[in-house]
Amino acid sequence: MFRNICDGTIDIARRAGEIMLDSSDPEVMDKGTKDNHVTEIDLKVQQFLKKELLALLPGSTFVGEEEDDDDRSSDDYWIVDPIDGTTNFIRNLQMSVVSIALIHSGEPVMGVVYNPYTDEMFYALKGNGSFRNGKKIKVSDRKPENCIFATSWGAYDKSGSSETFRISEKIYGICEDIRRMGSAAYELCKTAEGSIDLYYEPILHPWDHAAAGFILTEAGGIISSVYGEQDLFKRNSVIAANNPDNLEFLRKIIIEEKERKTSQ
Ligand code: IPD
Repeated sequence: MFRNICDGTIDIARRAGEIMLDSSDPEVMDKGTKDNHVTEIDLKVQQFLKKELLALLPGSTFVGEEEDDDDRSSDDYWIVDPIDGTTNFIRNLQMSVVSIALIHSGEPVMGVVYNPYTDEMFYALKGNGSFRNGKKIKVSDRKPENCIFATSWGAYDKSGSSETFRISEKIYGICEDIRRMGSAAYELCKTAEGSIDLYYEPILHPWDHAAAGFILTEAGGIISSVYGEQDLFKRNSVIAANNPDNLEFLRKIIIEEKERKTSQ
């Protein structure tokens, strides 16, 4: 089921990536806070994806990051981030992806994430495992002391940043190193392929993690909110890991730090 749709989505993601690569010096607008931006290319890519994906699966509806586009009225709907890593895109840091998830009867069944700069196409179809450019990927088997931890300190809302810095410091003392790549979807795909092992963001939205989180689970990993929320639209924070033990390792440190703060 959905195999042809997956092939079609991969083709559409690649064409969306071409729009990103063809753009230069796009107009940038602020979105809510001075550190959160949207460009004319985010809007152009989202319009392109909406038109193409709705035609690919007639009857489906569409949720996109930009312009409050949220129609979940169909049994099949798309969750799309046209450019995850918009700040990277504006600064030509070449770590931004197109992210597309398909939800069927309330569950993710397909995820496609494309980085046009590296030509990495990540995708997964329910029950079939995860792939990067046609090659099967799986999570690492590293233990905490050998893990690389990817995170962000809430760039668009810095009110909780100091707590996340303290959490990072604790994890940094145990693990090998930390990365902040600036695209949640790309970092979760890197966790799916085993290059990164642990992941935490205090604030994320469904379009940031729906596709890549699904690719991660199909690659053998695990994703949740800090307090175990599975519903994509109710999940606020996101934790992810290569295995359940490491997820609990992460969860324990984060909750200890959160509770230490509230008991002060
Ligand atoms: C953002 C990126 C970033 C993460 C933010 C996201 P955007 O998505 O994934 O890495 O730290 O929380 O909102 O705004 O570039 O689509």
